[in-house]
Amino acid sequence: MITKEINFAVEVLNNNNLVAIPTETVYGLAGNALNTEAVSKIFKLKNRPFYNPLIVHLKSIEFLPQIARNIPSKACKLAQDFWPGPLTLVLDKNPNVPDLVTSGKSTVAVRVPNHPLSLALLQKLDFPLAAPSANPFGSISPTSAAHVDHYFQNDLEVILDGGQCQRGIESTIIGFKDGDPIVYRLGSLSLDEIQQSVGKVKTLETKTSKQPEAPGMLSRHYAPKTDTVLTEHVRETIQAFPHEKIGVLLFKNRLTNDTVYSQEVLSESGDLNEAARNLYAAMHRLDQLDLDKIIAEKLPEFGLGLTLNDKLTRATKKA
Ligand code: TXA
Ligand code: MG
Repeated sequence: MITKEINFAVEVLNNNNLVAIPTETVYGLAGNALNTEAVSKIFKLKNRPFYNPLIVHLKSIEFLPQIARNIPSKACKLAQDFWPGPLTLVLDKNPNVPDLVTSGKSTVAVRVPNHPLSLALLQKLDFPLAAPSANPFGSISPTSAAHVDHYFQNDLEVILDGGQCQRGIESTIIGFKDGDPIVYRLGSLSLDEIQQSVGKVKTLETKTSKQPEAPGMLSRHYAPKTDTVLTEHVRETIQAFPHEKIGVLLFKNRLTNDTVYSQEVLSESGDLNEAARNLYAAMHRLDQLDLDKIIAEKLPEFGLGLTLNDKLTRATKKA
């Protein structure tokens, strides 16, 4: 059932079953973070490997000490500056957080989502919600209730409909080493915004799945089923595939006089926030056209453009 009504969702969650929830980033597949039965249902439904830990969603910053400890001062600053919002902090975990949630790690990922419906839902629960993005493992993240319905139609009792996600890209994930922030995953919160809050931060090279700090950062991720290439030279790349049914994903300028089957423009005004909001929906649409190839235009390498290029690069990797 797709609904805006939270009461049934509360009941389903209290019974250790799952609900899809809207957040400002992407939709999440949520269950009681402190209950292993609920958490194991998340892994099962997503077909997610157990080595890939989940994010715990809190109703507010006050509840952070229930989940995490030894919180570095820069983590407090970031939480105060950006919660509720698209920032996930990886912190030392408290013993009450099940090992299943953290894949046996001593750290837990945690954030306060910024969506009125999910915050209202969390207020009615006496536990936090573990929620990965509501897509099967490795596929494109959902930014609307319809996307979630497409993936999990028959498997979810409730999909809470909070409209189109305002940010459209996952949260930025930050861990700490000796109290200093390290970006594990680029996301909706730009590096510039983070650095304005806590000064210079390092970025973890996460092109392979080998880094123990960020177990879920597989190189192929957020991926359409259709073969996808990322390029700065869209026209030349189209010409290299003259006999193929092609869809293009463009930043701001539509192609004229062209032979491609379909075009998606992310932001006609060249606004990277708008491009982020539209990216996954555009990828979902192109992926449903039975194309031979998606040709994606590389975005400018600053601000959210860095995040979008990272997601697109992962979408182009072969399985
Ligand atoms: O915007 C978001 O973050 C969305 C919404 C629903 O909140 N959630 C999301 O979850 O993107 P998911 O499961 O798709 O991605 C969570 C990432 C994974 O890559 C995982 O490896 C990482 O968080 N993670 C979780 N716990 C961690 C930990 N203890 N240490 C390092 N990375 C962790
Ligand atoms: Mg995900």
